[in-house]
Amino acid sequence: MTKPLLRVLNGQAVWPPPMWLMRQAGRYLPEYRELRGQAGDFISLCTTPALAAEVTLQPIRRYGFDAAILFSDILMLPWALGHGLAFKEGEGPVLPRLTTGQDVSALDPSRVMAAVAPILETVQRTKAGLDDETALIGFAGSPFTVACYMVEGGGSKEFARIRGMAHGEPALFASLIDVLVESTVEYLSGQVTAGADAVMLFDSWAGVLSPRLFALHVIEPTRRIVAALRDRHPGTPIIGFPRLAGVLVGAYAAQTGVDAVALDTGAELSVATGLVPATVATQGNLDPLSVVAGGEAMAAEVRGVLDGARGRPHIFNLGHGIVPQTPPEHVAALVKQVRAA
Ligand code: CP3
Repeated sequence: MTKPLLRVLNGQAVWPPPMWLMRQAGRYLPEYRELRGQAGDFISLCTTPALAAEVTLQPIRRYGFDAAILFSDILMLPWALGHGLAFKEGEGPVLPRLTTGQDVSALDPSRVMAAVAPILETVQRTKAGLDDETALIGFAGSPFTVACYMVEGGGSKEFARIRGMAHGEPALFASLIDVLVESTVEYLSGQVTAGADAVMLFDSWAGVLSPRLFALHVIEPTRRIVAALRDRHPGTPIIGFPRLAGVLVGAYAAQTGVDAVALDTGAELSVATGLVPATVATQGNLDPLSVVAGGEAMAAEVRGVLDGARGRPHIFNLGHGIVPQTPPEHVAALVKQVRAA
């Protein structure tokens, strides 16, 4: 196993740490904006394998990261289940609001694998374009975070609808999570078969739940997905990202069976690494806004992350996705600093 990223996911402390950045393909790159202009809408880009593979490879060519991440979106799963999805310019994702048992019954897991076939082809094509040192990461949203967008009808500040449903209509909510668990297993398993070296579960809104509901709707569904994937693909590592989970990251790391936990920007590394079992790798957690600032402001933050990660299996990354206003030359300086650690 030579890929540095996979060595870390296997529990080795590799130094300097291998690195990649969440949302490393995207609007901050001029080559992305150009191709995005040709592709038309975002869903067409995600379902046109030649273009999606090209976009996946753009940041690898430019920066030589240790991993490429499939270019797609966590909301392509509800799309594949037959739930509506549109990306409105400047507004983000818009979905029909799921409110009833009928809405859950209307989701059709039998159409998922055919619908995601172009995405799996992107995985194959991307894999063919990578060298032997660079890992390919597949991904999905976690059932809870995907459910957030389905129940809210898009993004939200308070997530009052989904939190209300989780407390007030537990059977309905559990039935939605169950459908998402099953189709996420099929979808991620398809990505591994197509060539993904590792997979990541993005749980961007894990932190909005009470500890009791976090155990029920974040830890338990993740544990089921990890167990099913382990069964089918024993050698494929799984990274979990329970964003904003605070101290619950310890329970998440210990109980879900993931090989690594991604830490968000607010996680104090010395505290977080004390909560996570020594056998579970960590990933993160540079503030993406420090990369917008660049210079010494960024360099000081990078040193902080490196100091906190030294001596344990760690993958250098951001604490959340890179933002569109990031100057590409600041990312080049970041790579240089981490590589020289
Ligand atoms: O480079 C990569 O990281 C791979 C691709 C990727 C995208 N989205 C592409 C994308 C990944 C891994 C995601 C994950 C994703 N998508 C998450 C989890 C991570 C996180 O950021 O919390 C979430 C919550 C989504 C849902 C989503 N997709 C939103 C809220 C938005 C709108 C906001 C925005 O950034 O525009 C998207 C759109 C989206 N997904 C874009 C990209 C590159 C922008 C689309 C465009 O080019 O217009």
